Amino acid sequence: MKLPPTPESNPYPSCSPLRIGEALPNFTARSTAGPLSLADYRGKWLVIFSHPADFTPVCTSEFVAIATARAKFEALDCALMALSVDSLFSHLAWIRMIRDRFGVTIDFPIVEDPTMAIGRAYGMVAPDAHDAAAIRATYFVDPEGVLRASTCYPATVGRSVSEMLRMVEALQRAQDGSALVPADWQPGGDLLRVPGQTVEAALAGSDPSDWFYAPLPDNGARA
Ligand code: BEZ
Repeated sequence: MKLPPTPESNPYPSCSPLRIGEALPNFTARSTAGPLSLADYRGKWLVIFSHPADFTPVCTSEFVAIATARAKFEALDCALMALSVDSLFSHLAWIRMIRDRFGVTIDFPIVEDPTMAIGRAYGMVAPDAHDAAAIRATYFVDPEGVLRASTCYPATVGRSVSEMLRMVEALQRAQDGSALVPADWQPGGDLLRVPGQTVEAALAGSDPSDWFYAPLPDNGARA
């Protein structure tokens, strides 16, 4: 019987996910679009996401869905970058298979991270992992290279591409601090006013909740 790994036998030390507000450490790596550095993405929004392995069912479904939505990310001036432990040649062969089977071209870079040096530095490897496969971590990075939101899914459940798009657009709406984004917001829907923090603000308005809960029409401004 195979015993679960003990902390001592686990060759991949625990690493916590990056925290919101942290600047992502830079890296340079080979990718399907040639060598790239995180720093190349300064000035653009970026969604960087890890996947457990090439040639697996859920990951394939995600890549087809994300590549199909690529123009929607571009319309938000948001770049995409994928990352896994698989080799560059594996990534290239998988891209070919996806094109042949689904008619979809993966035209965003997939980074190879054979030692998971990047994945570990970014907290994309599960702390109790006994192999180097990444979890489905998604990092939403602002034009200054700062993490603004992240999600973490297990290997068994694929991400929602519409939620990834909604997150980018919501972060852009909230970026300048002039409005908040309510639950289940969709582009074009009302935002929420940032509440005043004075007694005067609390006493204003006809309803006692007006000072902290006030829908705000979306004027379409994006950071
Ligand atoms: C998948 O993408 O289908 C998958 C990847 C790793 C483990 C299990 C499933």
